[in-house]
Amino acid sequence: MWTRRRLIQSMGAASALPTGWSMRLARAEEPDIELKLVAGTAAVPVFDGAATPVLRYSGRVVRGRADALIAADSFLGPTLNLRRGERVRVEVDNQLDEPTVVHWHGMLVPEAADGHPRLAVMPGRSTIVEFTVSNPAGTYFYHPHPHGRTGFQVHQGLMGLLIVRDAAEEALGLPEPAFDLPLVIQDRSHDRLNRFIYEGSMMQAMQGQFGNEVLVNGRADAVFKVSRRAWRLRLLNGSNARIYKLAWSDGEPMRVISSGSGLHGREQGVRTVPYVTLAPAERVEIIEDFGRRAEGTELALVSRAFDAGGGMMGGGMMGGGMMGGGMMGNVRQGQALDVARFAIGRGPALRPDAIQLPQIRDEDWTRIGRPQHLVRTALGFNHMQGLLNGRSFGMTAVADEEIVPVGRPVAWRFVNRASMMMAMPHPMHVHGVRFRVLERRGGTGSDLRQGMVDDGYKDTVLLLPGEEVTVGFIAPEPGLFLYHCHNLEHEDGGMMRNVRFVS
Ligand code: C2O
Ligand code: CU
Ligand code: CU
Repeated sequence: MWTRRRLIQSMGAASALPTGWSMRLARAEEPDIELKLVAGTAAVPVFDGAATPVLRYSGRVVRGRADALIAADSFLGPTLNLRRGERVRVEVDNQLDEPTVVHWHGMLVPEAADGHPRLAVMPGRSTIVEFTVSNPAGTYFYHPHPHGRTGFQVHQGLMGLLIVRDAAEEALGLPEPAFDLPLVIQDRSHDRLNRFIYEGSMMQAMQGQFGNEVLVNGRADAVFKVSRRAWRLRLLNGSNARIYKLAWSDGEPMRVISSGSGLHGREQGVRTVPYVTLAPAERVEIIEDFGRRAEGTELALVSRAFDAGGGMMGGGMMGGGMMGGGMMGNVRQGQALDVARFAIGRGPALRPDAIQLPQIRDEDWTRIGRPQHLVRTALGFNHMQGLLNGRSFGMTAVADEEIVPVGRPVAWRFVNRASMMMAMPHPMHVHGVRFRVLERRGGTGSDLRQGMVDDGYKDTVLLLPGEEVTVGFIAPEPGLFLYHCHNLEHEDGGMMRNVRFVS
């Protein structure tokens, strides 16, 4: 691991040596990739008509591979294309008029680079973070994490993809980069001037911010032209609060090769589901054979209607009818929505070979199955605020049960007890680790269950009302990290806590 501390230590040691030596040592610790990322404002076309004023990441490669950062053709931040093992330095420049900090969601980075809200950067200032890419090939992303403002800043546009590639993945024969399509799925409502509406209401603080329209890769009414062959689709739910039940309009199932944090191993295999349940911050990767569709036709990706099983507060009655008048109207969790359309190209179908998933020799996977340390967190809601074991967020507060060992298998059970009035889905996320889902039980039998992919490594897991989910992991690095609900309005309301990993 290449951390700032080690860099400073080695530079300190070097200063005792002749100058030539210290030069060479310092150079050996130089990053492979140096990036600059600016959080600023822009006006970008999203809907028909006027451009939408947004907050937006822009950036450039200062040093290293020129394709490590590719600008997005939308309000989304540039896509960072990193390779496993690369040492990365990013200068983050805050050109907003409020504090912000960047979090690399799903990436195993040192505490100092993780984007903890206590490290937020003041307007007009910048900071430098450094990490080595240790995650396996997969789909990750980055977004702001200032306390109390994450939901707003993300909603106004601050988010970008982070794709990790590695040699192991390249040996698998998955569709090449030209047939590798990430889809960032977000919901937004807009006003007459095409501005995103972030309500800041009491209702929104409780349920989360919903929009009545789905954007894919920053565009409303997204259409993708696809050739008649196998494609790799990376689906990221970049929404603040909305859960999707993603299905093909022709009823074909989905073949999932990643549950979020890297590809499934041969052990987990390709998982076929009738639809994919995707909660905020979750990713799945699917292999889609568009060659099975007739040439020249159009296929839709939709989000089907569902009942999360929450009763009143689950987004059923409250969001929809009874108390949900005004703005919210029919804009609620579980409504049916169009997501994107795929125009199938003309020409002969290119049938895919069988997918060869990696033969992972993963000792951790087995070790995680035999936990040595247990943590239990009850999710709750009181006075309109989400709580974790009855507590809300304190900038440096850590309770006894939030001190967790490094290097030993830990089982962490989240309990989403549902009551008549307070039953909500919560996507729980833990920083600094990749976890396995060891057990899922309880719940009211929502059909969202059939679309959940719990098979491989993940970093965010959805708990429906009444469910208990136990995740297992081995924390790689000591430090102060976070765990929280990734419904961003719940997170901002304090449904977040520190976890201290200790060796
Ligand atoms: Cu994607 Cu703490 O977040
Ligand atoms: Cu995270
Ligand atoms: Cu929540």
